[in-house]
Amino acid sequence: MQFSVPTKIIFGEHSLSYIKNLRGYKTALIFSASSMKRHGFLDEMISYLKVKKMETIIGIPPEPEYDVVTDYANKAREVKPDIIIAIGGGSVIDVAKAVKIFYEFPEYELGMQPEKIPHLHTTLIAIPSTSGTGSEVSAASVLKKNGIKHAIVSNEIIPNYAILDARLPRKMPKEVARDTGIDAFVHAMEAYVSKLASLFSDGIALRALKEIKENFFLSLKGDEKAREKMHYASTLAGIAFMNARLGLCHAMAHKAAMLKLSHGRLNALFFPYVMEFNMKEARKKYKEVAKYLGFKSIEELIEFVKDITQYAKEKIDLSVKEQFMENIEKISKMASHDPLASFNPRKASWEEIKEIYAKSLHSNNN
Ligand SMILES: [Fe+2]
Repeated sequence: MQFSVPTKIIFGEHSLSYIKNLRGYKTALIFSASSMKRHGFLDEMISYLKVKKMETIIGIPPEPEYDVVTDYANKAREVKPDIIIAIGGGSVIDVAKAVKIFYEFPEYELGMQPEKIPHLHTTLIAIPSTSGTGSEVSAASVLKKNGIKHAIVSNEIIPNYAILDARLPRKMPKEVARDTGIDAFVHAMEAYVSKLASLFSDGIALRALKEIKENFFLSLKGDEKAREKMHYASTLAGIAFMNARLGLCHAMAHKAAMLKLSHGRLNALFFPYVMEFNMKEARKKYKEVAKYLGFKSIEELIEFVKDITQYAKEKIDLSVKEQFMENIEKISKMASHDPLASFNPRKASWEEIKEIYAKSLHSNNN
């Protein structure tokens, strides 16, 4: 087995100024969320950057489409950057990671075996503004093509640096803080019970869970310290899942785009039922989590999970739900074939997945 953290992590208030230390680069290609421009963090970052030339792309669409990324890659081939910087949420970082591949290796096609990707040289810096995806330390980039999400997974796109400046996540709207916080929680939970979990990933996953348990609700109220702790917990969870991978909840979330909910909210919707399904195989590990988090029993942990995820059940459009239910067999089969399902502690047939999808939706209050 192995465990690695290839990304150099710089963290703390004002850690954005670490950019000053990057020397020897000629041309930068910068991807930025429009909110980072609005809040002044993009300009601040650029003021630290010592390069001869730079090109900045502001306003990356959420849930990036394949075609958008190939357009950006064409731009990259014109600009010829030796450093790519992403400042923003998970989508911005995922775009930068995908562009790195398409820019240096235009022959890349979705679904290509990771071994076929050559060594890539462009330095990649991720500066997350949300606290959930873990993309700043992970080997994956999720792109949408024809309405389906595809994950590009390669060690070549693991960011070289992740800068976790505590000021950035404080600007997140409450809904984003909640959805991304749940995503981080599910990352750590799935990594902890994964078939690839090790004592190294377990230690990190547990610490991430503890920070999330103590800071989730405070962070929703805008507590500055809690926002900072959630930011670090999200990267910790990213390190855990980048090594131990994820499980059934993410396999199901990746195939449920038809519900038109954010990734975090899909995880919130499915996770309590995935946890219930996994109980047969993962009870011992869930019990360890409960104990570490200071709960008296596994039931208290389940209550906490319900508490933080119950918002997901609110107001899902009825027609969207009906359309999903009409396609549930096809979607369940796709989820059963998602590579992440293979790391889940309990193997799920497509019929069992269908049942979990149906339970998650039918227990809605609307
Ligand atoms: Fe996720």
